[in-house]
Amino acid sequence: MTTLTPPQSDLLANRGNLSVTNSARTFDYLDYGKDAWHQDRCIAARMAEADPALAEQMALHHKARESVIDAVCRTFPQVIDLGCGLPTMRRALHERVRALWGNEARTIYVDHDLAVLAAARAWWEHPARVAGVRVTALDLDLRCPEILVNALGEYLDLSVPVGVISTLTLDHLEDEELTGLVEALAAGLAPGSGWGITHLSGMNGAAEVYTGQAVEQGVDTRLVARDQSKVQELFEGAGWERWQTLTLHEPPSEKPLIAALTTLS
Ligand SMILES: C[S@@+](CC[C@H](N)C(=O)[O-])C[C@H]1O[C@@H](n2cnc3c(N)ncnc32)[C@H](O)[C@@H]1O
Repeated sequence: MTTLTPPQSDLLANRGNLSVTNSARTFDYLDYGKDAWHQDRCIAARMAEADPALAEQMALHHKARESVIDAVCRTFPQVIDLGCGLPTMRRALHERVRALWGNEARTIYVDHDLAVLAAARAWWEHPARVAGVRVTALDLDLRCPEILVNALGEYLDLSVPVGVISTLTLDHLEDEELTGLVEALAAGLAPGSGWGITHLSGMNGAAEVYTGQAVEQGVDTRLVARDQSKVQELFEGAGWERWQTLTLHEPPSEKPLIAALTTLS
């Protein structure tokens, strides 16, 4: 008789087996961070073997993330970071928003990984609140976008345009999940809101390795390979229509990282 086990999330709380695939730590390693464990470094190495261009895209990601964050922070005093990941030594997003907008600044960090949230609360949310800066770390799954929009409404003024940032996060959503997210935010945010995005380009081999291991372990997180036209199509179909690509590659690369800003009509 086959025994059915429920899908296991990569959240710490649900994890009986500490060797399961974890996005935040795997990509922290690929991003030259310090928080990866042995199993994360192994899967990252297999991904890079399957797609040698992964290292180049990850190296460019530093520059891309900075450009996207700068563009969004300069335009909006209220900013939401979807899939914020582990805090690093880089200047935190909420500090930039605060420096630019003073008391108007509000920053929301969202993730579904409890280890990420524990670190985000300790390094970002708590010290910011002590200093009187409005920062909130929310434990939410982007695959439940209506809950996300309701929660955002509790902390932000959604009657005015706000800034959204997702750097290497949307790669973890299947097409229909991504469509659900961009549609829910299009319905819940004011026209003129902006979204800064980075997303791997291509990387079918790396996605196959990551997702293959997740499936094998019964973990419900995926890595989905897309090219720019696919990402753009999913956004534009949901009303995020003014797509502006950020150019990062000098000289142009064969598989450039996707980095863009898009605006809600
Ligand atoms: C590759 S990391 C990127 C982290 C950070 N944005 C960066 O640029 O370094 C992806 C992050 O998205 C989070 N994530 C993935 N799927 C998610 C989901 N369905 N809901 C909420 N967070 C999610 C992961 O936990 C992880 O922290």
